[in-house]
Amino acid sequence: MAADALTLAVVGDLHWHVDQRPTFHHHFKSVHEVADFLILPGDLTGAGLSEEARLLAEVLAKVRIPVIAVLGNHDVHTDNGPEVTRILEDAGVRVLHGGGDAVTFTAHGMTVGFCGTKGFCGGFGARCLTPFGEPAIKEFIAETKEEAARVDHDLRDLHADFKVVIFHYSPIETTVQGEPRELYPFLGSSLLCEPVDKLGANLVVHGHAHLGAERGHTESGIPVRNVALPVLKRSYAILEFAAETRVMRATGTDG
Ligand SMILES: [Fe+2]
Ligand SMILES: [Fe+2]
Repeated sequence: MAADALTLAVVGDLHWHVDQRPTFHHHFKSVHEVADFLILPGDLTGAGLSEEARLLAEVLAKVRIPVIAVLGNHDVHTDNGPEVTRILEDAGVRVLHGGGDAVTFTAHGMTVGFCGTKGFCGGFGARCLTPFGEPAIKEFIAETKEEAARVDHDLRDLHADFKVVIFHYSPIETTVQGEPRELYPFLGSSLLCEPVDKLGANLVVHGHAHLGAERGHTESGIPVRNVALPVLKRSYAILEFAAETRVMRATGTDG
């Protein structure tokens, strides 16, 4: 880990099942040697079961750097999201839901701020779902707008030298490419990207699109990384930013 660089270890879509315990215990053992922060963009558990969250919490409690996460659709599948959040937070993980829970730290002489939320679906660009017609359609896209509003709120209040936005769903189309086209509307929404481009950030990370592409950027040029474990095909990605310029360096040593 370079002394003059901010280094983030990022991986989503762990889908932590109880029978994976033996291998996952080694997963993050030495992450503190290569990164300043560990970021987990959702689908941490297989089905949002408390037992799954407890096993993950056992491992994350031993991580020696700050761990920041959002939940994914799998984590809320059994309507147990608040309990999953509580179990992880008891282990020291900061689980962000947006709308007022952004966190800041100091590293390499700068403040590093994180905000995020799960996000939701609706599609991208000109094909983004609009609130027209049936009440169910209006409710569907209202959920996405609400998620975007949470990040809008947090980015307005987040005063940091370096800002990271964490979603589970994708805010751009580029990083879902590779998935079947029919699934695009269910993999994310451009609405999530609006506050990011409007208010600015240094990096956006997400997961969810297991067959998607790793790299993309927003319309204003902010780097976006799809860090779903099946996309990375490695324990985590290492993203390194020069402390002075806050520009991303070529990928460092990945875990
Ligand atoms: Fe997933
Ligand atoms: Fe997901």
